[in-house]
Amino acid sequence: MDGNGRWASQRGLPRIAGHKAGVDAVREIIQTSAELGIEVLSLFAFSSENWSRPPLEVKGLMTLFFTALNKEIKNLHKNGVRIRFIGERSRFSQKLQTSMTDAETLTADNTGLILVIAVNYGGRWDITQACRAVANDLKQGLIDEASIDETFFQSYLSLRDLPEPDLFIRTSGEQRMSNFFLWQCAYSELFFTDCFWPDFRREQYEQALEDYQTRQRRFGKTADQIDSSS
Ligand code: IPE
Ligand code: MG
Repeated sequence: MDGNGRWASQRGLPRIAGHKAGVDAVREIIQTSAELGIEVLSLFAFSSENWSRPPLEVKGLMTLFFTALNKEIKNLHKNGVRIRFIGERSRFSQKLQTSMTDAETLTADNTGLILVIAVNYGGRWDITQACRAVANDLKQGLIDEASIDETFFQSYLSLRDLPEPDLFIRTSGEQRMSNFFLWQCAYSELFFTDCFWPDFRREQYEQALEDYQTRQRRFGKTADQIDSSS
């Protein structure tokens, strides 16, 4: 979700106004995903690198995160959304950590859209924490070296039990991954749009999904092989 700051600057508003407008886009995209029967929606809300922003902006983002979560959670629950946070949480305030855990517990048995929110997350962090956990299990004799293959390693990552993303959307004209799902996006279709996040609404989302439907996913095979199997 990128472009909140520029969206605000364009309007002569403080950056935080862009983040607030970004929350409205989040609500609409979650709602649309649920309506369209999307299985999993992951949002990159705050990266490990975002801590280096001006302290006032970080503080504003934390407050917004806390208020938005507490305000929206009832509605999300009512709509059958199952929420999950991924990332290194220990750096957040105790009350924010509690809100996150409460939201997960409340919605744990829901069967609708799975909503993954990445906070203080980084793709490299994810791979590194998985390595550490594997090393630990190895040291304790719980696993043996020969069993470490891609599928096995995957089971230590944050999205272990969820399908790999089919579509990766990056807003605001930037064309990079910025340390998001580095492992999981190996075969994701990438979609870049100039639209700033606060303006990324149902219409823009549907355009991205339509674009996705025109892609042929080959996973290393030839186009002929794919055509003859369908
Ligand atoms: C994304 O918008 C929101 C967060 C990282 C929390 P930005 O804040 O990065 O917006 P720009 O890139 O400055 O426009
Ligand atoms: Mg940005």
